[in-house]
Amino acid sequence: MADISKNSTASGAVDVVIMAAGKGTRMKSRLPKVLHLLAGRALLSHVVDTAAQLSARQVVVISGHGAAEVEAALATATGAGFDLSFVRQEPQLGTGHAVQQAVPVLRDDGIVVVLSGDVPLIRAETLRDLIATCGGDKLALLTIDFADPTGYGRIVRQGAAVQAIVEQKDASAEQRAITEVYSGMMALPANQLKRWLARLDKNNAQGEYYLTDIVKFAVADGVPVLAHKINDPLQVAGVNSPLQLAELERAWQLRTARELMEQGVRLADPARLDVRGALHCAQDVAIDVNCVFEGEVSLGEGVKIGANCVIANAAIGAGTVIHPFTHIEGGKPGSKDFIEVGAGALIGPFARLRPGARLGAEVHIGNFVEVKNSTLAKGAKANHLAYLGDATVGERVNFGAGSITANYDGAFKHRTVIEADAHIGSNCVLVAPVTIGAGGTVGGGSTITKDTPAGALSVARGKQLSIANWKRPTK
Ligand code: UD1
Ligand code: CA
Repeated sequence: MADISKNSTASGAVDVVIMAAGKGTRMKSRLPKVLHLLAGRALLSHVVDTAAQLSARQVVVISGHGAAEVEAALATATGAGFDLSFVRQEPQLGTGHAVQQAVPVLRDDGIVVVLSGDVPLIRAETLRDLIATCGGDKLALLTIDFADPTGYGRIVRQGAAVQAIVEQKDASAEQRAITEVYSGMMALPANQLKRWLARLDKNNAQGEYYLTDIVKFAVADGVPVLAHKINDPLQVAGVNSPLQLAELERAWQLRTARELMEQGVRLADPARLDVRGALHCAQDVAIDVNCVFEGEVSLGEGVKIGANCVIANAAIGAGTVIHPFTHIEGGKPGSKDFIEVGAGALIGPFARLRPGARLGAEVHIGNFVEVKNSTLAKGAKANHLAYLGDATVGERVNFGAGSITANYDGAFKHRTVIEADAHIGSNCVLVAPVTIGAGGTVGGGSTITKDTPAGALSVARGKQLSIANWKRPTK
């Protein structure tokens, strides 16, 4: 059996406990609070990712309200280099009771870092400092000064030494005047944590097991209690309401916008950019207002993005211009649904690129043109009101206004091949499977159901007829 009477954190390993059992009543949502999205990712995923940055050995998530949903949502995060496990806290009897549930799965030889699943913006470097403050044998508390400390646990000191954390509801008038508060995050030796958790009671104003009571036990046991005080309120800000969630979203987005501008990206307005994933920009990229980037997006050198574009999972080649109101919605990076746009392309305004659109260099896709699961080779153009689905389009093809590929027969999808230099007139229907031969021309208004020879003019429509001196019917 491990000797837990000594302060040995022999392994130096970091084990993270994330409290995520609370209901989040003020969100007024069916979704568990920690699954609400910040920058496109669940609040809890942000915290788990931060734990990963600490090279945590073990991450234990304490779930309660909506536990099954929370566990399912995070199941995919396993294999990220640490051991992710879940314990349940039912019912929720306080933060001390929450961490008690983790005791059976926590090892004795680590430094435990306690985090909250609803405090998403804590930075790994701050936690590294907190762990250093713990040093493997002390209790380190992350604290901050708040002009209005209402609702928080107050850091009670005697001289410089921390004596206790007193919760708002248990605090005297004198203690309530203290502005230094406990952030909800601490680092301490696992073996000590386990001993102190066993001593908790709920003799307090809320009848809860307070994790914060362990400070008294540390003081009684002669274990140093150190406060690591920071001054960035965003890092300790919790999400309890839709308003707070939106405030943290804006803060996150502004931080992202600043980082992009530091890399040289020109943003028309840093307050009107949303990145919900990773946006990689080469030199001299300019982004106009109200653009949303999702998943993995890379923009090559000199790319210009017009106002009001939504771009997900796409690689855009150098010098390409995306005109306003364009929607690009690629699938997962590395999949056939990821979108590629070559160099020097012109896309939009009002263009829609759907999963699997692969456009070569200098392709033009104009207004109200939809492209799905199609390859367009260099210099191909579809400038107005068109649909290209399941098509392979050769170099320099011109696809006329109002023309479409009829790719779906009601049961199966079929491919359309348009060979190089073909010219498709306006308002044509190419009924797949069909091939338009190289250099051929399809007359406007044609419905093409058979392959066309290279170089030929193919017309498939009723012959024009004029009846002279036509008299309209009269009443
Ligand atoms: C706690 C601290 C308080 C600190 C504040 C910072 C205690 C007793 N008090 O306050 O000193 O200033 O955080 O925000 O620890 N949770 C569970 N199970 C429970 C109760 C809570 O998992 O039974 C989770 C919540 O979902 C949340 C976190 O623990 O993620 C903190 O709970 P919350 O109720 O917000 O904190 P307080 O107890 O009010
Ligand atoms: Ca509470």
